Amino acid sequence: MTGRTRRGFLKQAALGTAAFLAYPHSTVLGANDRVRVGMIGVGNRGQDLLEEVLEVPNIQLVAMADIYSRRRDEARKQVPGIQTFDDHRRLLDIKDIDAVIIASPLHTHARHFLDSLASGKDIYSEKTMTWSIPEAEQCLAAATQSGRIVQIGLQWESSGALRDARNWIKNGMVGKVTQVESWMSRNTRHGEGQWVRPVPSDCTAQNVNWSAFLNGRPDRPFDPYRLINWRLFWEFSGGNVTENMVHQIAWIMSALELPLPTAAFMSGGVFSEKDGREVPDTIAVTLDFPNDIVVTWQSTFSNKHFGLGEHILGSDGTIEHGWGESDMVNGEENEYIRYSPEKVNRPQGTALTGKTPDQDHMANWIECVRSRKTPNAPVEIGYRSAIAVHMANLAYRHKQRVTLEMARSFTPEF
Ligand SMILES: NC(=O)c1ccc[n+]([C@@H]2O[C@H](COP(=O)([O-])OP(=O)(O)OC[C@H]3O[C@@H](n4cnc5c(N)ncnc54)[C@H](O)[C@@H]3O)[C@@H](O)[C@H]2O)c1
Repeated sequence: MTGRTRRGFLKQAALGTAAFLAYPHSTVLGANDRVRVGMIGVGNRGQDLLEEVLEVPNIQLVAMADIYSRRRDEARKQVPGIQTFDDHRRLLDIKDIDAVIIASPLHTHARHFLDSLASGKDIYSEKTMTWSIPEAEQCLAAATQSGRIVQIGLQWESSGALRDARNWIKNGMVGKVTQVESWMSRNTRHGEGQWVRPVPSDCTAQNVNWSAFLNGRPDRPFDPYRLINWRLFWEFSGGNVTENMVHQIAWIMSALELPLPTAAFMSGGVFSEKDGREVPDTIAVTLDFPNDIVVTWQSTFSNKHFGLGEHILGSDGTIEHGWGESDMVNGEENEYIRYSPEKVNRPQGTALTGKTPDQDHMANWIECVRSRKTPNAPVEIGYRSAIAVHMANLAYRHKQRVTLEMARSFTPEF
């Protein structure tokens, strides 16, 4: 028995047979073992994550699965010799893959998440954790039962700014918080649509596993525009609330240790990007939390003057966090976090600027795959943030204020 297999056997015995039958264990790694990684979905974000994981010491990229041949070719250029598949299940059949990165479209996250757990892999899954509330419940239950390491691609959870905010709040410097305001704004040149991507000429039915992309959505002839621009349509996407609000609400929920919201309201519409998309480009969300806190989030695609950020408003102090005129996806580095005392309640308090360095979110996951410690963005914050954003979207789509109970009772609609 090799060291690696023996450690796997001992851990397996300790886990007990019941959990083990439902969620087979592949191997358990030691601190110096190489982590063998697979990837599902290697498009825009997936290729960024591929670069990130290749920078982590002592990992091996073994295989990747993507339904579109162009993406498999691109990944093979990045990692010569890698095995590629057009069906994620073939990748999951590889027994000695320890951990899987999932960067597929939102409507396929839950399938990839659950199948990966069932084949005994640890997971890094892009946000939002799932497309719907029932799927979020299922993934939380499965992850908890499996004992696998799950990191959600909510990289702000690894930020130094979150540590600064938590410290200031825990030290009592902010006092009682009843309101948080947050926003995210972008703009595009006249004549261009935010998020709209050109369809490559090789995006044809021959080069795509179209039924795997549809993933249970009503069958129809191959539609390359929807494949490439899945973000614009409800059956595959949750719009900007699942794309971007989720990062900010997870950050706010973690900073203030917020439970699930009790109610949500969301107004807005397709006001600036009239290109046939279904998901709104202009949004105002209000979330009520049980502990006397209201969180607002607003977003536009036709003005980016105020960038994105959050203001935590407390009786004893204010936390301002954000990026100036920036786009979190393009990685501009003008992030700030500052604290200001409310002189009425903290007359001796002084203004502070946060300086805690960020952690590498991907390296944190790989480290936890080895150590079995809880990563910075575990399934539980993936779950809470998913429920919050889905409540907002349900309020928008049902055109009414939606409580948590109502949100849980709705049947997800394509
Ligand atoms: N954390 C972040 O900051 C961040 C940033 C951007 C995107 N994302 C997330 O990453 C995910 C992917 O976004 P993207 O912009 O890369 O989309 P994309 O369309 O560029 O990439 C998705 C890839 O998945 C493939 N795919 C589709 N269905 C598949 C299936 N059933 N099995 C395997 N592969 C499949 C597609 O061919 C494509 O290559 C989304 O969930 C998005 O929200 C996160």
